[in-house]
Amino acid sequence: MILVFLGPPGAGKGTQAKRLVEERRFVHLATGDLLRSAVRNMTPLGMKAKEYMDRGDLVPDQLVIQMIEEALPQEGDVILDGFPRTIPQAQALENMLSSHGKKVDKVIFFDVEDSVLIERLTGRRVCPNCGAVYHIKYNPPKEDEICDRCGTKLIQREDDREDTVRRRLEVYRTQTAPLVDFYQKRNKLIILDASKPQDEVYASILKAIEDES
Ligand code: AP5
Ligand code: ZN
Repeated sequence: MILVFLGPPGAGKGTQAKRLVEERRFVHLATGDLLRSAVRNMTPLGMKAKEYMDRGDLVPDQLVIQMIEEALPQEGDVILDGFPRTIPQAQALENMLSSHGKKVDKVIFFDVEDSVLIERLTGRRVCPNCGAVYHIKYNPPKEDEICDRCGTKLIQREDDREDTVRRRLEVYRTQTAPLVDFYQKRNKLIILDASKPQDEVYASILKAIEDES
């Protein structure tokens, strides 16, 4: 099964994908995580992507499409988290999959209003070592600012400062939101109220997947 997690920054896509990977057999392909790792390792892709990411802009389509082409597994259930994010990316994905006789099965749209997104993003803290994601109010670590899993000091993502968050929301509205219509027309869209607590959102995702399989 190929699932796409679509939604604005901070909607909870990564949080839910990680849980689904832990509890079901999914491969999680998150373009944001792949790009951040390329930036950390100073690869040619990372060097090109960094300036766009720091500003809260999208990395150019051709770079991201090539990265996904290389990373997409041939077999198994996959969650695409944060990809596609533009119409050309969605078209490239259709071509990529159809050349292997596959297709996107469902697109889960995480619907959340802006005021909630801003609070979630500015309160997010991440573990630079293991990638665990926390929130200072909604999902705090047991010990202040320390990762429960590996004991590393948590950090705030560079692009989670309020001015960059606002830019990311604007970019989402102009470049990514048209995908809602794109997938609705293809009859693949499942709309979730992702402003609900994490467990409720997770239960709705499971139901959507089980209805499908
Ligand atoms: P990316 O890393 O994909 O960022 P994003 O889409 O902006 O998504 P986020 O990771 O910010 O949010 P999320 O929905 O995963 O939320 P999370 O689960 O963490 O992309 C970063 C950058 O990379 C982009 O700006 C762009 O430059 C580039 N990029 C990536 N993909 C690209 C592409 N395809 N094309 C071009 N460029 C690309 O949750 C957020 C917070 O809320 C957490 O603190 C969490 O604990 C909390 N939370 C989660 N769920 C709930 C809940 N139900 N209730 C309360 N709190 C919750
Ligand atoms: Zn950790």
